[in-house]
Amino acid sequence: MPSGKENVIKKILKLKKEKNAVILAHLYQDLDIQHVADFCGDSFELAKKAKSSEAENIVFCGVTFMAESAKILNPEKHVFIPRKDAGCRMADMITKDDVVKLKEQFPSAAVVCYINSSAETKSVCDMCVTSSNALKIVRNMKEKEIIFVPDKNLGTYIANQLPNKVFHFFDGCCPVHDNIRLAELEKAKELHPDSLVLVHPECRPEINENADFVGSTSAIINYVKESDKKSFIIGTERAIVEKLTEECPGKEIYPIADHVVCVNMKMTTLEDLLWTLEDLDDEVILSDELMVSARTCLDNMLKAGSAK
Ligand code: 13P
Ligand code: SF4
Repeated sequence: MPSGKENVIKKILKLKKEKNAVILAHLYQDLDIQHVADFCGDSFELAKKAKSSEAENIVFCGVTFMAESAKILNPEKHVFIPRKDAGCRMADMITKDDVVKLKEQFPSAAVVCYINSSAETKSVCDMCVTSSNALKIVRNMKEKEIIFVPDKNLGTYIANQLPNKVFHFFDGCCPVHDNIRLAELEKAKELHPDSLVLVHPECRPEINENADFVGSTSAIINYVKESDKKSFIIGTERAIVEKLTEECPGKEIYPIADHVVCVNMKMTTLEDLLWTLEDLDDEVILSDELMVSARTCLDNMLKAGSAK
């Protein structure tokens, strides 16, 4: 007799075929969601997947800026988000007006926005980046002067590696990663002295400087999978610890601290996903005008991110 959860999973798998839907999930989603998804990835991988998807319906399990980006990149498709209230706390820190003010202050600078921003914010930016491609893209930009929004931590991480450029930051951050303290990293190292420390660049500079590896969610996963080492301390959202524990049975995976949880990413349940597939509501609707203006920086990212 199948359990309630097994029944829900069966219905999801049946409905996604019937409704010609593809399920995309960010790597911070609960593993239950990742198990029924057609593709799981970091923000850049998901943006590329959304752009190339041929399914009529894209159900995006993640936070709202990700689903918005999918819609902007593939406007002919219907994009749904099972939890419309799943925002990103960093994206919510900045508005389009904040960017306009920075542009007035530094008129010769190019504006680079982290993909963790609203469509409105993107509409006044020149280039979009994710954690996996920010360094490469900004390094290759012809402009020497860069306004980087909204994440001051990711911005500082790349600025430290590009001393020939001048950066202006916005005072934004991801509270989930920014809350990780150096004392916690040191304590985890003390408890697991043979472990490598892998962190996301949304962490504070002192965390990034004391890590063995800094990279996007996918980069962290790939690093662990390809490494000969046995033990790792993970400085990013708990789902990555759970995923690595599941997929790398011979390795020891430790969270840097127990509080590293993005509640917004955790909102989506299997039931939410099922209801979305049943009713095909919760569609992402953006005006054509907004999509056109926000698309430029996303398209620029896809071009620059794929270049050698
Ligand atoms: P990735 O670019 O690694 O997917 O990160 C997105 C994110 O929101 C991290 O907090
Ligand atoms: Fe936004 Fe931080 Fe959650 Fe990533 S972890 S979605 S940056 S609030």
